[in-house]
Amino acid sequence: MNTHYHSEHFRKIAPHYQSLRTTDAEPVEYIAHHLKSVADIHAADVGCGTGRYTSLLMQYLQDKTPIIHGIDYSIEMLKQMHTHFSGNGRGKALREVNASYMKLPFKSESLDCLFTFNAIHHFMPEIFFSESARVLKNGGYIFIYTRLRSQNSRNIWGRYFPLFNEKETRLHESGDLERYASKVPGLHWAQSQPFTFPRSSSANSLLRLAKYHHYSTFTLYTPDELDGAMQEFSENLGLSFVDQDNIQWIDENILLVFQKE
Ligand SMILES: C[S@@+](CC[C@H](N)C(=O)[O-])C[C@H]1O[C@@H](n2cnc3c(N)ncnc32)[C@H](O)[C@@H]1O
Repeated sequence: MNTHYHSEHFRKIAPHYQSLRTTDAEPVEYIAHHLKSVADIHAADVGCGTGRYTSLLMQYLQDKTPIIHGIDYSIEMLKQMHTHFSGNGRGKALREVNASYMKLPFKSESLDCLFTFNAIHHFMPEIFFSESARVLKNGGYIFIYTRLRSQNSRNIWGRYFPLFNEKETRLHESGDLERYASKVPGLHWAQSQPFTFPRSSSANSLLRLAKYHHYSTFTLYTPDELDGAMQEFSENLGLSFVDQDNIQWIDENILLVFQKE
């Protein structure tokens, strides 16, 4: 995995990221429900980006957790987190930490939970799981929110944007992640919860997302490939949807829960 390449992408996208993404409360509600009998939670959100999910986790878990660490290796993403969430009075319980998932800045067996949202495909899962298992207490949880390769192939991009599935080789299937976790002593898969979200947008807004590389998948195209793919995408949308200002589709995601015992 080319770390420099991806850090460059997140450096460029950081100022716009917060306004571009749809934040789904449902997985966080599910996590809060899962943790309803756990008190005094020490936790970190790994690959937290601008902190939109770290902040939501804090809203849902505030009675149970004194602090949630937001871990990211992109300083620019963490600066956005500071501006949007942790820099104000309410955000004192969120702490930005510039670090990599490969070497989490916590003592062994010190955390109750690790969360990672939309980031596992940027990590090497075997390292993520072994480092997570090191810092988790016995009984601790890892919550991974992601879209699977198969889910990606059914969304608006996977269905209508040329080469999207061929280019996006980083995503996993849940069985892959379960296998990586099962190789780490003491770690096992506990639960999976799929989510579906009806979405809508205009064709022009979707094309802008591609043009400005607002998903890292678009950085995997050469400029010529991307131009050609955008043209074809626009034609595909024209053929498949009557109203170009109201393109509708379903996004699918999954929450995977692992436990250390
Ligand atoms: C697609 S973004 C998701 C951000 C956030 N979790 C969200 O859902 O909005 C992926 C994040 O993973 C971070 N990341 C990538 N490699 C990392 C690494 N080695 N260690 C820590 N964070 C990393 C990126 O900087 C980026 O902020």
